[in-house]
Amino acid sequence: MAKQTSRSNAKPIYVLNGPNLNLLGQREPHIYGTTTLADIEAMVAKHAKARSASVTCRQSNHEGELVDWIHEARTKGSGVILNAGAYTHTSIALHDALATLDIPVIEVHISNVYKRESFRHHSYISPVAKGVICGLGVQGYTLALDAILADIV
Ligand code: DQA
Repeated sequence: MAKQTSRSNAKPIYVLNGPNLNLLGQREPHIYGTTTLADIEAMVAKHAKARSASVTCRQSNHEGELVDWIHEARTKGSGVILNAGAYTHTSIALHDALATLDIPVIEVHISNVYKRESFRHHSYISPVAKGVICGLGVQGYTLALDAILADIV
């Protein structure tokens, strides 16, 4: 019989943020709010801990670095929460990296990209994500975590 893995010793969920999201709190606050990325990461880590789960949080402005972390999550992670920022709308490399994963991927956007410019209406991430959370502000990250944890058990 397969050995049961409890959440507390499950692999971490990767929370990956792409370009310009390091400037959350300062960047276009009328669109993205005043919460910083550090605040979001602390909120997600606390939310995970309360559910006996853990997260690995990373941010990069570089596409290849995000690809490398997605590859890392293939073996070291139990899920990926990804806000790829503007790479959402441009990156076949991120699409291809995510397509290699056997773990759930949730795409997150703080803003409702469908209410914004038409160049934000196409996502290379959505076809390889289990689900998309968009326009619900920074709470989207904890909602994504709950969605993944609902699948893990
Ligand atoms: C974003 C939306 C993207 O269109 C934009 O390029 C971002 C942030 C969001 O969280 O709403 O950088 O992903």
